[in-house]
Amino acid sequence: MATQFVIDGLKAQIEGKEILKGINLEIKGGEIHAIMGPNGTGKSTLASALMGHPKYEVTEGTASLNGENVLEMGVDERARAGMFLAMQYPSEISGVTNSDFLRSAINARREEGSEISLIKFIRQMEKEMKTLEMNPEFAHRYLNEGFSGGEKKRNEILQMKLLDPKIAILDEVDSGLDIDALRIVAGAVNEMRSDDRGFLIITHYQRLLDYITPDFVHVMMQGRIVKSGGPELAHRLEKDGYDWIKDELGIVDETVGQN
Ligand SMILES: Nc1ncnc2c1ncn2[C@@H]1O[C@H](COP(=O)(O)OP(=O)(O)O)[C@@H](O)[C@H]1O
Ligand SMILES: [Mg+2]
Repeated sequence: MATQFVIDGLKAQIEGKEILKGINLEIKGGEIHAIMGPNGTGKSTLASALMGHPKYEVTEGTASLNGENVLEMGVDERARAGMFLAMQYPSEISGVTNSDFLRSAINARREEGSEISLIKFIRQMEKEMKTLEMNPEFAHRYLNEGFSGGEKKRNEILQMKLLDPKIAILDEVDSGLDIDALRIVAGAVNEMRSDDRGFLIITHYQRLLDYITPDFVHVMMQGRIVKSGGPELAHRLEKDGYDWIKDELGIVDETVGQN
């Protein structure tokens, strides 16, 4: 079945403060949706709420992956169902090597008794690290500890490739990347594009979208999607910034805070 992910009327709050004020979005397998928007408009909150970060309380709405509401699932169940988030600020975990973490993450998605064999896992990890032009020593380092910003982002993409998700949410995966790394990350996304996988790519800048052509571009302000269009919308934002949208919609402060 081709993947279908439908977010309907999603509202979420943090510590009693409403951040997401009704998000509607439909992503079909094969599609790449970009969410753009200034800082503080709720983009990362959307990503966290979809993945089930405990700090974000969903108060209304559904997010259905192939008919099942992932918002009712635990974080591990969401991962098993095929949800994946490359985080804006990946966590560092001292004492857990990258390769142990990756293998546990893969096995957590599998049934008991059908865990990936060590040999197969290593072969696959090494292959993907090579395509991402990562130094093999990163397999044995503690998860993200001492990684540069760009190395962390590349490592998030390595996780995505190994986990083979149905819905991949990439939160500012381009921040901290030099142009070569950007090309590699974009190449991985383009290569993974398929009918059973949809992408939600959160980005501040058009430059990632020079390498990944989105089917749809959405602009977020005040915890809502306030405008949607095709790739041309991202180009306009690059050229003209966000003020024209604010003018058009009569928005004075685009952040969630004051509203
Ligand atoms: N963990 C948190 N605790 C308190 N406030 C938060 C937290 N995460 C986000 N916020 C607030 O929610 C709003 C939206 O933040 P965020 O979703 O990170 O925006 P964006 O990713 O678009 O920059 C901001 O006002 C931010 O301060
Ligand atoms: Mg953010």
